[in-house]
Amino acid sequence: MKSSLVAFFLFFGSFISLSASVYAQDAAKGAELYKQCIQCHGEKGDGNPAQKAPRIAGQHDWYVLKQIQDIKAGVIRKNPVMIPFVSKLSEQDMKDLAAYISKLNN
Ligand code: HEC
Repeated sequence: MKSSLVAFFLFFGSFISLSASVYAQDAAKGAELYKQCIQCHGEKGDGNPAQKAPRIAGQHDWYVLKQIQDIKAGVIRKNPVMIPFVSKLSEQDMKDLAAYISKLNN
């Protein structure tokens, strides 16, 4: 009885940790992806007036995600300069980027 209870938790516990790692936002991966954004938005996300690139550091993750999705879709938000940088991003990439950018603080 006791061992079956342990087996039960091992079995379902592995599902919980698996789903957490699959669906969680990965800010470390976001940091890697963000390297291609630095030339315009700056290392710390504080923007670059010369590029007309806005400050994005510390912005809500859900807002950053929505903007990247809209820019990638190119319908309600047209941003031709960013298209080459966002067109290959997956949904997970965009979530990881949003997680990283929202944590930038300066
Ligand atoms: C070539 C320069 C350039 C690059 C590279 C670039 N951006 Fe941008 N980004 C801009 C400009 C310019 C705007 C503002 C455009 C506008 O007025 O709609 C912008 C807007 C944004 C916004 C919306 C900000 C807001 O407050 O609405 C987000 C989020 C963003 N960029 C994220 C990124 C991410 C993430 C990357 C890297 C994958 C990236 N950008 C790469 C130039 C760039």
